[in-house]
Amino acid sequence: MSVSTKNRSLTPPDISARKGQTPIVCLAAYTTPIAKLIDPHCDLVLVGDSVGMVMHGMPNTLGVSMDMMVMHGAAVRRGLKKALLVIDMPFGSYEKSKEQAFENAARFMCETECGAIKIEGGEAMAETIEFLTKRGIPVMAHVGLTPQAVNVFGGYKTQGTGKDASRIMNDAKAIEQAGAFSVVCEKMPDPLARKITAKLKIPTIGIGASAQCDGQILVVDDMMGMFTEFHPKFVKRYANLGEQLGDCVAEYAKDVKARKFPAPEHVYDYAGEK
Ligand code: KIV
Repeated sequence: MSVSTKNRSLTPPDISARKGQTPIVCLAAYTTPIAKLIDPHCDLVLVGDSVGMVMHGMPNTLGVSMDMMVMHGAAVRRGLKKALLVIDMPFGSYEKSKEQAFENAARFMCETECGAIKIEGGEAMAETIEFLTKRGIPVMAHVGLTPQAVNVFGGYKTQGTGKDASRIMNDAKAIEQAGAFSVVCEKMPDPLARKITAKLKIPTIGIGASAQCDGQILVVDDMMGMFTEFHPKFVKRYANLGEQLGDCVAEYAKDVKARKFPAPEHVYDYAGEK
């Protein structure tokens, strides 16, 4: 059955129903103006905890707070009409107990009107995912390279290589069994991402995974060339806005110093507004 989504936001079941269909377009974003610009092209917009590194200059995602996620989540909500809004649970907000996870996830749902939350981790998070899903909170899972575990992994290393592939496959099966409506597969070998995609009935969303995943996600600042601290191989740069911004500011500075800005068309006379 095809469901019309005209004039309404996409829901987690709409995303699940896209398994094996047209690839699902996802981006991570953090502000209202960017959300407005990307909404017509996206099925799902994630407010990722990457916000800590991209927008706040943090060295990793571990210092991101619930308050930061609520503030950016609400901002993105105001910019979306169509795409499903998903918010990342930050490090320390869900791992202690399923009750802690519910309390914080419910806060996201109430204060940002997001449609779902995302949790990093596989088998270890299955019980929590089941608890949340059965209580009205749709969960997107995240397996493979889970950046909140950077210290356990010893860096942002590819996961699931060699014999370790079965660990990631088990994680993926466990989160599906627990009721997750989709799963992000990050930085893992292409053949493993294909196997997981073939095995699961829920959509896989790849980032550094495989073109055969059911959808793809990138951080909007990465693909626009605005965030240049890191450039992982999996990021395709579709623009060089960071470089352009630098050029614009250099030109502005030159104009200001030469008193070329403001020009007559930018100033007011005694007659007032024209
Ligand atoms: O934090 C983030 O932006 C993410 C995605 C890139 C998957 O988790």
